[in-house]
Amino acid sequence: MSILQLNDINTYYGGIHALKGISISVEKGEIVTLIGSNGAGKSTTLKTISGQVLPKTGSVIYEGKDISKQPAHITAQTGIAHVPEGRRIFPRLSVKENLEMGAFIVKDKKVIKERMEQVFDYFPRLRERLTQKGGTMSGGEQQMLAMGRALMSKPRLLLLDEPSMGLAPVIVEQIFDIISDLNKEGMTILLVEQNAFQALQIANRGYVLQTGEIVMAGQGNELITNESVREAYLA
Ligand SMILES: Nc1ncnc2c1ncn2[C@@H]1O[C@H](COP(=O)(O)OP(=O)(O)O)[C@@H](O)[C@H]1O
Ligand SMILES: [Mg+2]
Repeated sequence: MSILQLNDINTYYGGIHALKGISISVEKGEIVTLIGSNGAGKSTTLKTISGQVLPKTGSVIYEGKDISKQPAHITAQTGIAHVPEGRRIFPRLSVKENLEMGAFIVKDKKVIKERMEQVFDYFPRLRERLTQKGGTMSGGEQQMLAMGRALMSKPRLLLLDEPSMGLAPVIVEQIFDIISDLNKEGMTILLVEQNAFQALQIANRGYVLQTGEIVMAGQGNELITNESVREAYLA
């Protein structure tokens, strides 16, 4: 059984038909990537999953349950963590406070501390910057903080929206390495990227999204060598 399934999803912003009948699936333990140009509907797909926007028709099935109409704050408590495009950390809160926000439903201080230690295993930089205000961190550090905050909820499915956006190549490498490591430790990941080449390199499978429709699907290594994918997204 897939951990996540989108069946024929149609999502609108007023009169704008952003997702036009999208169907995708994610199996437990996979990295699945959704690639496509600016405006293709990648972020809208993640928002439809996490409940920030509701689909007009179609279903989102998570762990066998229909969550299509479930509000975001409930979905966030059922094992889906969404790291949004642009990170959206709390700029005036410290690194520690940002991380604590990710585990706000956990009351047990010991559990929070344990989870924070696990986050530091992936992002040692965050431990060094515990008291620093989120907004004064570099882009790469803010991405690490946003991912760390998401991990604090102990998700079973991690939604990542353009984690490499705006980062220097060496930092992008680090972020992708960490995404790979998280997956090797068992995390299921749906990764949205304009950086198609790097996303397809670490993904088991990928979908190509174009103006609200899936136009291609395949194994990561198939898509990376596909002529039309190369022309459109890897040039
Ligand atoms: N809040 C919004 N209001 C109106 N239209 C939106 C909104 N967010 C996105 N859109 C439109 O929906 C389409 C898909 O956008 P988006 O999902 O952000 O694409 P991507 O993440 O692939 O760049 C685009 O045409 C975009 O202009
Ligand atoms: Mg986007």
